[in-house]
Formats: sequence, C-alpha cells, structure tokens
Amino acid sequence: MTSPSSDHPSLLEIRGLTKIFAGSFRALDRVDFTVRAGEIHALLGENGAGKSTLIKAVTGIHAPDGGEIRLAGQEIRPSNAEEALVAGIATVYQEVALLPNLSVAQNLFLGRQPTRFGLVREREMRRRASELLQGFGLDIDVSAPLGDYSVAVQHIAAIARAVDLSARVLILDEPTASLDAHEVEVLFAVMRQLRERGIGIVFVSHFLDQVYRICDRITVLRNGCLVGERLVAELPRGDLVRMMLGRELAEVEAEKAAPMQSRAGPSLFEAENVGKRGLVEPFDLDLRAGEVVGLAGLLGSGRTETARLVFGADKADAGRIAVDGAVVRIASPRDAIRLGFGFCPEERKTEGIVADLTVRENIVLALQARRGWLHPLFRREQDEIADRFIKLLDIRPADPERPIGLLSGGNQQKALLARWLATEPRLLILDEPTRGIDVGAHAEIIRLIRRLCDEGLALLVVSSEIEEIVTYADRVIVLRDRNHIAVLEGEAVTVTGVVAAIADGDQDRKVA
Ligand SMILES: Nc1ncnc2c1ncn2[C@@H]1O[C@H](COP(=O)(O)OP(=O)(O)OP(=O)(O)O)[C@@H](O)[C@H]1O
Ligand SMILES: [Mg+2]
Repeated sequence: MTSPSSDHPSLLEIRGLTKIFAGSFRALDRVDFTVRAGEIHALLGENGAGKSTLIKAVTGIHAPDGGEIRLAGQEIRPSNAEEALVAGIATVYQEVALLPNLSVAQNLFLGRQPTRFGLVREREMRRRASELLQGFGLDIDVSAPLGDYSVAVQHIAAIARAVDLSARVLILDEPTASLDAHEVEVLFAVMRQLRERGIGIVFVSHFLDQVYRICDRITVLRNGCLVGERLVAELPRGDLVRMMLGRELAEVEAEKAAPMQSRAGPSLFEAENVGKRGLVEPFDLDLRAGEVVGLAGLLGSGRTETARLVFGADKADAGRIAVDGAVVRIASPRDAIRLGFGFCPEERKTEGIVADLTVRENIVLALQARRGWLHPLFRREQDEIADRFIKLLDIRPADPERPIGLLSGGNQQKALLARWLATEPRLLILDEPTRGIDVGAHAEIIRLIRRLCDEGLALLVVSSEIEEIVTYADRVIVLRDRNHIAVLEGEAVTVTGVVAAIADGDQDRKVA
C-alpha cells in the first residue's frame, strides 16, 4: 500500500462545518476534514456519528449552518448534488442511483449523451462506454440493461460515470455493504487505480478489516464532533475502536471467545423438500427452540430465498412444513406471523421502514398487524414498548416521536429489529442483521442474539460475515447455486470449515 506523505496537496478542505437539525440538534459541530489528492481516506464513527450528514453537506443535499468547504483552494457552496458534481465532487451511495432499465451505456452518459443534430449517437455512446469500463477492467456488453448486472458492476458503472464527469474527489458511502468478497476485490482494484490517478477518495464503512486493507488515512467522528485524524499505519485497531466509541470493547471480545454450548430444545420448525422453481432447489430444514442456524454462501446462492420461503414471503411450490409437529400452510407472511415467526429483511429501505412514521409507530407495526387493525394498541402500550426497545437496543436519538427516516442508517436497522422482537416471536429470521451497524452496536446485537436463544427463541440468520456467524451458530447451512450443499455442526462450525464448504461443497457432502 502506498501511503501518501503529508506533502500530497489537500484537495478537499472542510473547516468548522456545522449542521443543525430541527433548530437545535447539532448533527455536526465545527468539524474539520481534509482529503488529499491520491489518498483513500476513511470517514468512520458510530451509527449516528454524522458521517452521512457530512457527506450530504459537502454534496449540497443539506445546507450547512456554518463553516466552509474548499476544493483545491476555491470555496464552494453546492446547493445540490449536480452542482457538487460539476465542481468535482462525486458521490456513490450504497443504493446505486442509476436506472436499471436503461442500458449500461445509456446510464453512463445519462443526461449528457453525445448528440449530432440533436440525435443521440448510440453507436458512439456504446463505444465510449465500453472504453470507459475497460479502463476499470470491466469487459461487458454495454447495450444490456444495467439491472441485469450484479450490484458490484452497477457500483463500478456508477463510479465510472462519476469519475468520467471529471471528479477530483470521489465519496463512497458504505459501498461494500452488499458486495461479496470477490466483488469487494474488484471495487478495491478500481479504487487503487483512481488513487494512482490522484483522485481523493472518501470511504465510509463499518467493515474495519476493509478500512485497514485499503485506506491510507482515517478521520473519526463521534456525536457530530471530530475526534481526530490518523494515518492508518500508525493507528492500532484497539485505538481506533476507542476513538470511535469513546470506550473499550474488551468485554465484547472476551464474550466472543467464550465457547458455544448447544441449547437446542424441542423441534419447532420442520421443512421437508421445500423449494421453489427458479429460486431455490428443494431442501430440508429443522429448527429447534433455542438454537441459531446460520445460512452461509455467496451472494445469490439462495440464502435470502430460503429465508423468504420459510416466512411465506415467497410461496413454495413443493414440500411440506410442520410447526410443533403439525403440518401447516405458510402461503404468506401473515400465516408466518400468526405462527409466531418474524423476519427482519436486509433491504430496510424498500422492505422495512416506513420513513415518515415515527420510531414508535415503526416499532409497534408488526405487533399491531398481528393483533389485527380492529384491536389497536393503546397509546400507553405503544409508548411502553417503544421505550423498552429504544433502551434495549440503544436506538439513538432516544426519541420515539422522531420520524424514522431522520435516523441514521444503523439506527433504522435497530428499530427494525425492535419491530420483530416486540412481537415476541418463536422463530426469528434475520437477514444480515449487523449490516451497516457500527462495532459497538454490532457486539450488542450479537449479545442479544445469544440471549434470545437462551430464552428459547429459534433464530435463522443469513450472514456474509463468516467470522461472526461461527461465533454464535449451532449449525451452519452452506448454500451454493441455489442448493443447500452442506451442513456444519458442533466442532465443524469454523471459519475454515465454512469457507471450504462454500468453495467446494462436494468434498464432504452431507445433505441435511
Ligand atoms: N434530516 C434530518 N433531520 C434530523 N436529524 C437528522 C437528519 N438526518 C440525520 N439526522 C440525525 O443526525 C445524526 C447523524 O446522522 P448520520 O446519518 O449522519 O449518521 P451516520 O454517521 O451516517 O450513521 P450510520 O453509520 O448509522 O449511517 C443522527 O442522530 C440522525 O438522527
Ligand atoms: Mg450513514
């Protein structure tokens, strides 16, 4: 890794940046932040620290309440993302904001198609699009719809577009959250290449391993204030975590190391030969009360699809399901909820939160749905439930009446988890439960998962974090190409075991 020396010229200089919401809440308080040419600079901090707000202030989405932003010495005040882009600051968010129905080429030249006599020159556009992507090592058919490609390709297209628009600073807000390991490598290769070209890159992520692999420098925010700026090479991980949380994480690490003991109780859920053509091949799955079963595999291997079949979000076209030994029909999430199942999806924006409802309303939503709308929860009950879960999960700010859309991404995720816990489910399905969640809250959620099992809940967890899953799972089911290919149990539940099974499940095939 080339570590930039401090004589690299500063590109983006933010001084004393302040952002006040709702008249009094200081989401950013006189923050300084400097990005130099040719560096990858991590912007880190707990959920709600102010990272996204800082980015939005720089890119014209939020008007700052104080401070100044300079790009190559010139003060800028973009009032929208387009103006920021023109000034040379490009942002790619976790949710790619391009248009999936248009071709890759059309997306790359969105709003600036090469024209002659007012007509878009398709062929010219395709040629330039191909060239642009080849520059990033991506040799794909640019006339195919963007939506046909993986999230990683879509990200790279978004980055290519931004950079082609003469960006000098590229901001990536949690870009790797939905990428698999290989795709992360592809993205990192692109980032390194851009660093070589002298572009300043801001990288926001909760994956500290990635930060240590790719970044040169780190700036940490806490509660809207700057904690400090350090070179990655000079900042041990423990110190970084302390900077982020303002406290030690030792107790958590100790707990992680504690050996798992099986707590499995009576059988709760049994699936036999359940599957759906085109989604996931027929599988068997048993879940007992008090156990955690992990679903591991690459992106698109059928993990989420399995979870959705269990919950009735997709309807199985084959097989038989029994709960407590009695055959049941799960044709919809309503059936599943009635049976005491809960499902916390990964895509909180599209499947989860209702942005304009308050935190309280979001938390009581599933419970209310189960009770039926004819039996509304009293306001007193709602307040009590909301308060309890805000405390339990440390949702910040601890204000049940705030519209949930105004919470940081990680805090929205916690509220979604609260929604399902409030229904006191017997079986809880979690799809990437710690995605977008900071190191501190991460540890709290894992502790919570363990405690819920001790109380007899069954958990089915989809996770890409193999290191994490092996610390709490009693069993790990490995999927590949929409097939359940292996089950690891007890001693066999190790990182190397799971990785080996994902890489080649036929070796010690043991079908459930
Ligand atoms: N539009 C808004 N109105 C009011 N408060 C807001 C608004 N946007 C963000 N906030 C608050 O500002 C604080 C910082 O939020 P921000 O989204 O910047 O956090 P973050 O560091 O990006 O966190 P995460 O890691 O969870 O994404 C949070 O307390 C959030 O609730
Ligand atoms: Mg954020």
